[in-house]
Amino acid sequence: CGIIGILGKASVTGGLVEALSRLEYRGYDSAGIAVVKGGKLERRRAVGKLAALRDVLAADPLEGNAGIGHTRWATHGEPTEVNAHPHMTHKAALVHNGIIENFRELRDELTAAGVTFEGQTDTEVVVRLFTRYLDGGLPAEQAFAATLERLEGAFALAVLVDGEEDLLLGARRGSPLVVGLGDGEVFLGSDALALAGLSSRLIYLEEGDWVIAKRGSLKTFDESGKPVERPIAISHLTGALVDKGNHRHFMQKEIFEQPTVVAQTLGRLLDPNTGSVRLPDLPFDLGSVKRITIVACGTSFYAGMVAKYWIEKFARVGVDVDIASEFRYRDPVYETGGLALFISQSGETADTLAALRHAKAGGQHIAAVVNVPQSTMAREADVVLPTYAGPEIGVASTKAFTCQLAVLASFAVALGRAKGHVSEAEEAKMVADLERIPSQMAKILHHQEDLVDIARKLAKARDILFVGRGIHYPIAMEGALKLKEISYIHAEGYAAGELKHGPIALIDENVPVIGLAPSDGLFDKSLSNLQEIMARKGRLILVSDHLTAFTENEMHGSFAMPSASDLTSPFLYALPVQLLAYHTAVEKGTDVDQPRNLAKAVTVE
Ligand code: G6P
Repeated sequence: CGIIGILGKASVTGGLVEALSRLEYRGYDSAGIAVVKGGKLERRRAVGKLAALRDVLAADPLEGNAGIGHTRWATHGEPTEVNAHPHMTHKAALVHNGIIENFRELRDELTAAGVTFEGQTDTEVVVRLFTRYLDGGLPAEQAFAATLERLEGAFALAVLVDGEEDLLLGARRGSPLVVGLGDGEVFLGSDALALAGLSSRLIYLEEGDWVIAKRGSLKTFDESGKPVERPIAISHLTGALVDKGNHRHFMQKEIFEQPTVVAQTLGRLLDPNTGSVRLPDLPFDLGSVKRITIVACGTSFYAGMVAKYWIEKFARVGVDVDIASEFRYRDPVYETGGLALFISQSGETADTLAALRHAKAGGQHIAAVVNVPQSTMAREADVVLPTYAGPEIGVASTKAFTCQLAVLASFAVALGRAKGHVSEAEEAKMVADLERIPSQMAKILHHQEDLVDIARKLAKARDILFVGRGIHYPIAMEGALKLKEISYIHAEGYAAGELKHGPIALIDENVPVIGLAPSDGLFDKSLSNLQEIMARKGRLILVSDHLTAFTENEMHGSFAMPSASDLTSPFLYALPVQLLAYHTAVEKGTDVDQPRNLAKAVTVE
């Protein structure tokens, strides 16, 4: 969820809604704002995308110089108007990101004391608890401190108090919160992006901090209630919003940007003159890294899986890849001085952030591959390996993924070199191969029309399988994830060789199987697996540089690829699976850029 709070000089409604549009990547199930107007709290809320809230505000405007706003990704309670934020009582309005873990206990306690609840959210408990302290006679600051003391979980809060036009309360515990300082104005936001165009002087609150903000003063306290001063950082983000250009959707635009942004990212890492990889300065010796732990979620996790193949092959260093939500709960074993690598487009995903902190506490060197340089992960890592994908708006990640691959491939080569497994000549050859990727990507994208017909067939299917071997296995899983996310068709990505151990039971004449089968060392094995599928009437769609392995009649469809190496192939095979998902979703008429139930970055664990 995304949070914004503004104490302005004039009406803040426009500023709140604009900030929410930059926060929509954190959720779009519902949105709302509240302001203090003529001393009284008032709010507007709407279910669905921000556009719905804009409509409500157009029909029933709201003006006030102090306000808070929220865009929600539902956790407790359905995305209804009642459950939408801000939550409000006669005394206070509150927006919240995160989860209050002891909310049941607090709700029982308040219910027993005669307090009634409107909805099911954990958030409502906080505003009712705060109100109870206010009703009991505590001034706002003390009531807020008393409320925070009772809360368990990871959260960020912004609060307005009835009758107070010059007061904004904020707290950060687990979920980030940033204060923006203006000229006689003050802002609170989930991240620097929310405050872009509003304020360039930012204070990143630290764990446990809470603030009492007024237009002319800011009081910051740490977890123990002690007043503290936090440094001011200058943000260079502008409020400019990106547009779709000539494309129908952001996702399509982002797919087609890949040759450019992958080139941009590689350009920061490869030196064509010396034929070598240049990583940013590392606070540890690369040659001494003995084991690597990679942690990420969703698409970023699949980039991590690809990296495991590369790092183990080129650098002979063992790699564990973990889904972030599982990682810290399995009590991972940390090697002294080990390297933990976190991959995240947003740099804000709560699961990955929690894992990063766990690894840091476990004494690991922390590297983050992130696309947002101002993000929390970038701030907390020892070293940042940035991707230069530019803002990614489509919820289903595409260009961030291939830029992550660009960083990870370069990293694997550099590590191989540092470990003595890649010679100078081999490095130069790999650098040259990597540099050819953008033009190869452009050629593949040029043939997108060839995939539209296949997508039409896929749109009619109920279940679809993606299979691949070796380094194409993670790409198969990424293809299935993309398709699920935006077309809502059930899809699974499998290691081609694993199909016979169970999932082959699913195969019949209604199940399209997309086979990613480059003519590499595993080609013959892949062909056998694809034969097994066809022998059971599965509908093969072959993506390969060797399409003649089957006749046209045998296949349900095919897409021709250039030949590639293990280093370059994942970049290229990512494109047809992205385009298949995209065109299938367009065929089905779904909301491609903001598919149901998802958020671009999930900021709760
Ligand atoms: C969300 C998005 C996914 C994304 C994942 C990780 O679930 O819907 O598309 O891959 O988060 O996001 P991150 O920003 O950490 O890469």
